[in-house]
Amino acid sequence: MLGQAMCSCTAVIKRAAATQAARQVAQQAPAAVATAISSAAASALINRPAINKRVVSTQARDSATRQVTQQAPASALINLQVNGRPVQVAEGSTLLDAINQSGSHVPTLCYHPEFEPRAVCRMCLVDVKGSNKPLPACRTKAEEGYVITTDSQELKDFRRRDLQFLLGRHPNECIRCEAAGDCKLQSLVQEEQVEEMWPPVISKTERGSPEHPEHRLHDHTSPSIYRDMDKCIECGLCVDACAAQKINAIGFAERGAGVLPITAFDNPLRETGCISCGQCTLRCPVGALIERPDWHRVLDVLDSRRRKTIVQTAPATRVAISEEFGLEPGSVSTGRMINALRELGFDYVTDTNFSADLTIMEEANEFLARLKGEREGALPLFTSCCPGWINYVELHRPDLIPHLSTTKSPQQMHGAISKSGPIAKTLASEGNDEEPYVVSIMPCTAKKDEAVRPGVRGDIDAVLTTRELAKMIRHRKIPFASLGNDGQYDSPMGESSGAAAIFGASGGVLEAALRTAADALGLKDAPIDHKEGKFCQISK
Ligand code: SF4
Ligand code: SF4
Ligand code: FES
Repeated sequence: MLGQAMCSCTAVIKRAAATQAARQVAQQAPAAVATAISSAAASALINRPAINKRVVSTQARDSATRQVTQQAPASALINLQVNGRPVQVAEGSTLLDAINQSGSHVPTLCYHPEFEPRAVCRMCLVDVKGSNKPLPACRTKAEEGYVITTDSQELKDFRRRDLQFLLGRHPNECIRCEAAGDCKLQSLVQEEQVEEMWPPVISKTERGSPEHPEHRLHDHTSPSIYRDMDKCIECGLCVDACAAQKINAIGFAERGAGVLPITAFDNPLRETGCISCGQCTLRCPVGALIERPDWHRVLDVLDSRRRKTIVQTAPATRVAISEEFGLEPGSVSTGRMINALRELGFDYVTDTNFSADLTIMEEANEFLARLKGEREGALPLFTSCCPGWINYVELHRPDLIPHLSTTKSPQQMHGAISKSGPIAKTLASEGNDEEPYVVSIMPCTAKKDEAVRPGVRGDIDAVLTTRELAKMIRHRKIPFASLGNDGQYDSPMGESSGAAAIFGASGGVLEAALRTAADALGLKDAPIDHKEGKFCQISK
């Protein structure tokens, strides 16, 4: 078993339950065959609806709590009071659940619903009648008859002092911080109108441990992730996220005021076992961990209008972008996104689906060639579409490397044919000598890493996450939510097939590859039937 690591983009389908087509293929093979193909990036469409959201919304939590309450039998309900209002929650709920359920609000900073609360920030302290001290709402279990107060002056004063203390060690960089506008600390400081320092001190307190100056505060070595530990509030969410991936590339060092999340032996992140999945950046409530910001240089190229620009968008982005602009989670904004990309100045707006077809054809051929023993490589075969998965195998399970497909992912295929295929020829015929500038909008930070791998470097000029695309749209003041949802992709490479479209569903890559393989063997109407196994634990 490969463990629970990896993002939800990765689904593995085992031979034991492979398709009828594969079984027919296997019957023709000299040896027992096993097929496993990951369903790759597009499965994020349904598995990671909030991939680009840093914070799970309070409404979502409230609704989850309500559902729990509604489903719980009456005997398992607890009655308590929040600020004088009676409220019922299911047994096992926390005070925070009860507070959300009652409609009241307490601020949280270190809490994330996916992880066991560490309760280190103390922002959510509340009074419980009979307790001799305030209790952290995120970690304290609700009990029958509790009388909770969230809004006493003492609690409010405490929260403000807490924020002042955090600010006393935080750099004054909001004005250019990548997390500005999406930072929980900034939001709370603004809400509370906190004066900067407490107690009044001349200069900011140094971060890290004076005894261990080797702890890196700034680490921009990874092709996917920036670490700026002077902004860290020590919530531990990155440590939990990385542990949930079974990678443990980061962990806490030092104690007390010197505590800091560091890499093993303080190595640069790119020299650790980090797989660039970006799960830590999604949980960090401030700007201490962030995807490598590439959108500035893309805007530069777009603004100059000197080079022809081509952008490709992955399937998941058209859904994730909706949430960035307050649209209903899960709503599809394909046309709006295309219109926004055109307003940003891209000359060609294309869908990754066409190159997904190419990947599928190549992968199906590779599979058949391995099956027939005409090509080196082990079975089962794993696709190369998910770069986090590839990193995982290379760094943590090198014994599986022979199982990896050598086929380029759709992102890289697209870049290669944009630079030297039919599009490039069309542009050259239009009098554009310079190579087109190729950008991809992807749901995963590991795609940034993939684009600079030896052997494929140069196919793509910049990889942006959906979150970065949203930043560009905001910076150019494009009213995304009110754009028409009617934009159409350019199809300079031709039409894509249904095989590419089913990348959007978990298991779709496998099904598409097997359909193509079956077709190549003349088994056109072979029924496709498979089961899948998921590695993902933390993104649901
Ligand atoms: S990007 Fe690296 S450090 Fe962050 S969670 Fe993934 S493996 Fe861990
Ligand atoms: S880097 Fe971010 S997620 Fe990690 S402990 Fe610091 S503030 Fe929390
Ligand atoms: S959110 Fe409860 S202690 Fe940090």
